[in-house]
Amino acid sequence: MNINQLDKKFVWHPCTQMKDHETIPPIEIVKGEGCFLFDKSGKKYIDGISSWWVNLLGHCNPRLTAALQKQAAELEHVIFAGFTHEYGARLAAELCRIAPGNPVKVFYSDCGSAAVEVALKMSYQYWRQTGKPKKKRFVSISGAYHGETLGALSVGGIGLYRETFSPIMLDTFNVEGPNCFRCPYGKTRDTCSAECFEDMERVLTNHSDEIAAVFIEPLVQCANNMNIYSPVYLKKLRELTAKLNVHLVADEIAVGFGRTGKLFACEHANVVPDFMCISKGLTGGYMPFAATIVYDQKVYDAFYGEYTDYKAFYHSHSYTGNPMAARIGLEAIDILENGVMAELPGKINVLSEILGGLAELPNVGEIRQCGFIGAVELVADKKSKKAFPSAEKIGWQVYREALKRGALLRPLGDVIYFLTPLTISIETLKELGGIAKESIEEVVNSY
Ligand SMILES: Cc1ncc(COP(=O)(O)O)c(C=O)c1O
Repeated sequence: MNINQLDKKFVWHPCTQMKDHETIPPIEIVKGEGCFLFDKSGKKYIDGISSWWVNLLGHCNPRLTAALQKQAAELEHVIFAGFTHEYGARLAAELCRIAPGNPVKVFYSDCGSAAVEVALKMSYQYWRQTGKPKKKRFVSISGAYHGETLGALSVGGIGLYRETFSPIMLDTFNVEGPNCFRCPYGKTRDTCSAECFEDMERVLTNHSDEIAAVFIEPLVQCANNMNIYSPVYLKKLRELTAKLNVHLVADEIAVGFGRTGKLFACEHANVVPDFMCISKGLTGGYMPFAATIVYDQKVYDAFYGEYTDYKAFYHSHSYTGNPMAARIGLEAIDILENGVMAELPGKINVLSEILGGLAELPNVGEIRQCGFIGAVELVADKKSKKAFPSAEKIGWQVYREALKRGALLRPLGDVIYFLTPLTISIETLKELGGIAKESIEEVVNSY
């Protein structure tokens, strides 16, 4: 059997209607190099979405590969309870140095959803152990995405993922969040004062005695069609949660590590959360790895005591603190800080030019950008912002056209976005912009 036959017979792919593979089989990738992926026939694709937003510093980055190889030859894994190792300890110290504010501890796990679960459980257990057991509910906003394990899904706000499972999820508050393209308050990005914060304000004010934490993706809800919103919303949220004694959990899993032009998106609003969840770019996209960063010493202290108090944080994953991942993480931070971040402003400008060019197209309803994340929302009617009928699968068709032309631009509905490795060259970025334009034109002109 060849690989496609094996795949078809034995593999169940994520987030995929497997019947679609009958007509469009998955593309077999055999090599990655920098911003490029190569299929079996040698065809090259620009990775315009960092392979699910993880790849930060290029595929098969020589420095990250060397770090992985060295560590694999020295110590591939060790239990992280009762044992530690150089890279786990050093990475935690580095994360506390580069994260905004003054974090105190780092708790490792192995994927973004797990980092969110850790924050949920830690927040709840903290309140329980400090005499506030009633604080056991969580708040998130419409369109939120924090992962797909049940706890993480419970603080999600995207129907497609949550509806089926809602009967078995936690009882959370999902409040109306920012929707800047179709702002119900009639505001524009320039005139916005985060009027939409009122729903959050109402829920927090009325229920703070039962709320443990609010979960938020700072500035960009990537899975929610790259919904980019004002830092003012985040500022208001920090102020109110602090006032009402509610934890703020910043989910920087997708936007952290330079994506928004700053190391962490919270920095755009000068906000310091109580917990910060990171993953994806943490290892440059090499390894399943994540961390929940804890800011408040009081939180840590509430778990500290005698063994027989049984108030430790009983949460573990087999691969927690994996030494290969930790060593790559340290290397990734060094690469980011010594060159990549400094080159980013120039690339962000080029991305703005590309988006500006796309804005001229007749079916582009909005272009949006936050640092090195850019998106284009395609609409049937520019003036009324009317969406295309979803059955037309316009975004999907653009994706197919872009593949033909050598770019991976997997859309979110009818939103085509750019979330490339930060190391992409300006030349390749422009090429990607050109492919996006041609692909959009091809699809909408024949609509
Ligand atoms: C903002 C955000 N949070 C959490 C997650 C979940 O991470 P993982 O897929 O590693 O579980 C994702 C994944 O895309 C994400 O974008």
